[in-house]
Amino acid sequence: MILQLHKRKMAIAGMLMTVYLVIHMLTNLSFFCEDSFSSFYAWYNGSIVRWLVLVVMAAAVGIHVKAAVKIRKANAKARRIQYTKHDKFHIPAPLVTVSIVFLLSFILVHVFQTLNFDSENVYGELQQLFQSEIMVLFYLAGLFVLMMHLSHSLANVLQTLGKTSVTCHAMVWVAVLLLSGGFASIPLYIYFVMP
Ligand code: HEM
Repeated sequence: MILQLHKRKMAIAGMLMTVYLVIHMLTNLSFFCEDSFSSFYAWYNGSIVRWLVLVVMAAAVGIHVKAAVKIRKANAKARRIQYTKHDKFHIPAPLVTVSIVFLLSFILVHVFQTLNFDSENVYGELQQLFQSEIMVLFYLAGLFVLMMHLSHSLANVLQTLGKTSVTCHAMVWVAVLLLSGGFASIPLYIYFVMP
């Protein structure tokens, strides 16, 4: 019963973050039209919405991680004998933990960087940030881990809903690739294409 509650909390917080990510990626795509991007961020940074979004996202990440830790602990307690591994592509648990820690660090660094942006020149700040190949690689690595995490968790959500068909799973992959590709297009464009 308690485990179900944690799973529900984790799924709701996860869905909220996914919705935010889709909106964040779509608004970021306006980078390809400087005027729309700058007027969007001028409005965003001048309104309370930015702080509301930040507080809601911080709460969602906190709830999601706390529930995940509780579920992991409960599962480890209940399952003293490990399942036989049938899947050929099995990721070892320590690697999963390292990737989650990396993802959380990526989000923290990113939020810290954007909070230090000149709010009247977000376009120029991004342009400057992605002059550095270290930063481009760091963002691409963060997006890769995010992509793996999202595809795995959305596949789990589908399984819980009883949608196990190949088409459903292919649709999840397409959506996750579009999301990550949309985000990645900005550092790649700035680094390789912009003068
Ligand atoms: C290359 C990819 C990304 C770019 C170019 C980007 C860009 C930005 C920008 C411009 C801001 C707002 C700065 C401001 O208002 O002054 C921001 C904020 C933020 N970003 Fe990203 N972002 C990217 C990826 C991500 C990812 C993958 C996540 C989460 C996993 C994320 C989470 C956030 C959060 C939580 C905030 C603060 C709340 C907000 O202002 O919306 N971003 N990002």
